Amino acid sequence: MAKRVVNLTINGEPQELLVEDRELLIHTLREQLLLTGAHIGCDTTHCGACTVDLDGRSVKSCTMFTVQADGADITTVEGMAQPDGTLHALQEAFRQNHGLQCGFCTPGMIMRAHRLLQENPDPTEEEIRWGISGNICRCTGYQNIVKAIQSAANTLNQREAAE
Ligand code: FES
Ligand code: FES
Repeated sequence: MAKRVVNLTINGEPQELLVEDRELLIHTLREQLLLTGAHIGCDTTHCGACTVDLDGRSVKSCTMFTVQADGADITTVEGMAQPDGTLHALQEAFRQNHGLQCGFCTPGMIMRAHRLLQENPDPTEEEIRWGISGNICRCTGYQNIVKAIQSAANTLNQREAAE
């Protein structure tokens, strides 16, 4: 099958890739770019383990063809920490609040939470629960994920107030 050239910006780096029309974005990320943080937990667009941030929206990358993302600016979980290794506030908060166990949902959960806190920097518990309702976790029971997102929101808001 013929391939097409697609240009993406991934975690700040321009990437030019050759892809078949049918190639799903999650497969391009994992198999061509070796960004294997985003996971595949279903084939029905429910689980959200494949969630990435694409042009300012949370997108389930299993439900988008890479050719549809041509020109997009994408952040994956690998792009969240600082280049010096300092964790993003969400990553740190997930660790401190035990918001992960097996870790399989975590990249998608963190990418969704990242966008959620930009949509709503000071969410209530209910807003967090609705806000991550496209992301399934089989391990945590969600409670500590909610706490982690609340904690990261506080950290980010305090940092912003201090600036
Ligand atoms: S892999 Fe389950 S929603 Fe994408
Ligand atoms: S930590 Fe295992 S699925 Fe969420």
